[in-house]
Amino acid sequence: MCTAQDLTDVIAADRLTRGRTIMRHSVGTLDRQWYVAGRSHQVTAKKPFAAQILEEKLVLFRDPAGRPVALVDRCLHRNAPLSEGDLFDGCIGCPYHGWTYDRSGAVVNVPAEGPSGAAAPLRLESFPVRERDGLVWVWMGGPDHPPDREPFPMPNEGLPGWRSYFMETDFDNGVTALVENFMDVPHTVWVHRGWFRSRSRKPVDMKVERTDDAVLVTYDQPADEIGFTRLVLNPKGLPMTHTDRFYMPNVTRVDYLYGDPEDPATGFTITSQCTPVSPLRSRVYTHIGLKLGPLTPLLEPFLRFYTRQVIEQDVDIMRVHGRNMGHYGGRQFASTPADTLHVFIESLRDWAEGGERGPKPEPTVAEARFWI
Ligand code: FES
Ligand SMILES: [Fe+2]
Repeated sequence: MCTAQDLTDVIAADRLTRGRTIMRHSVGTLDRQWYVAGRSHQVTAKKPFAAQILEEKLVLFRDPAGRPVALVDRCLHRNAPLSEGDLFDGCIGCPYHGWTYDRSGAVVNVPAEGPSGAAAPLRLESFPVRERDGLVWVWMGGPDHPPDREPFPMPNEGLPGWRSYFMETDFDNGVTALVENFMDVPHTVWVHRGWFRSRSRKPVDMKVERTDDAVLVTYDQPADEIGFTRLVLNPKGLPMTHTDRFYMPNVTRVDYLYGDPEDPATGFTITSQCTPVSPLRSRVYTHIGLKLGPLTPLLEPFLRFYTRQVIEQDVDIMRVHGRNMGHYGGRQFASTPADTLHVFIESLRDWAEGGERGPKPEPTVAEARFWI
């Protein structure tokens, strides 16, 4: 491990005096969350990994014990990115003048201060990190708001009969638009026409519940057919249970289960963790859970291809949608009963983004019918 030498004088340690306010400091309480910074295999002890969450630049690496570390990717000396530097002895060295930081962010070596260097009484901000289900999360709440919960668990991980894989996708849009898109059924017959679901001019009844920190949607469509369903997903024609769930502030979980929803014969889940990179840029980690019987491993390559095609259709519509949102810099939406879940999601996210001032959106239940 690298250790500190003698303390060197710091003749000036100015914090930011000018510059813009990054998103992290202008989103109310939305910073007090676990956000996915990367996948486990991307964070190593060999090479720094750069990530960006709420416009804060982060550098991640592992210490010699394999524990993931996250620091601000901005050297205290002249602000060069540490992610372009080197890892050695559990420390990270800046590529510009070699200032060296340990896993806590403490400056343990300033090479310009002598042949063996010297430590400076300065510390870079470090972030709480969790690693689970192949993902590395960072808590963005800062020292005044330490973690008060654990990251969202991926569904059915490790349960018999279930397999899973991740997809990682960059979208040119913000988290509110993305979570709405992932929960939105009416768009599937337009954006994914022929791929996921075709227009059948059928009514669908839904129940939409808003809780303190979630929006839960149950659809009454036991005979719905999705793309490849009949052949692959539901050969026995069992009734389908379809639920869409949004968990504040950035997670959606979509379940299609066939047979008994408590112990489905077959089914799949789509869980999306949206990481806000900047106002109109997000990175989404999509966990696909599959239970398709003994053929699941054989079907997985086909499903990887299929889900990639579907998600790219969303990437395209979200890009042009995001362009319009950016052009006007705000939203002016018209909503019908089919958009009930969207309105509920916006109410929860807006309240948090506004710093939780004013009355909190009340828990409520609504029923609505829409056509696909
Ligand atoms: S900018 Fe990092 S050591 Fe100078
Ligand atoms: Fe979609």
